[in-house]
Amino acid sequence: MYYTYFSTGNMQIDGEHANIDCMIDLCRQSEGDWASSARLLISGLANHLDSEEKVCQEEGLNMTPEHLDEHRILKVRLALIEKQLDRGELEKEAFLTILRDILFYHISNFDKQLKPVTPNSI
Ligand SMILES: [Fe+2]
Repeated sequence: MYYTYFSTGNMQIDGEHANIDCMIDLCRQSEGDWASSARLLISGLANHLDSEEKVCQEEGLNMTPEHLDEHRILKVRLALIEKQLDRGELEKEAFLTILRDILFYHISNFDKQLKPVTPNSI
């Protein structure tokens, strides 16, 4: 369900986003105990945030303080979602909808604004 609309223009970041989106679909299709897939998905998304920051640093993309703050907020949110999972408070479909909403909202409102830093933009 990943669309080119969500392209940031950076191949590694786009690839990681597409992988997470694919993991959401795989978790949806998994039968029986989905908790382990859900935990992998949470850690995959959290690890991606770190990876994205590294890519931006290495490739000179304009990771803003607001974007970094949003990553920190997302990590707290993911930890809270994991606690809800541990307590059995989340249904599978609700969990997957939340994760996909988080991913798509973040790409649309932050990652699509990532651009190479040019001398004039500093
Ligand atoms: Fe981001």
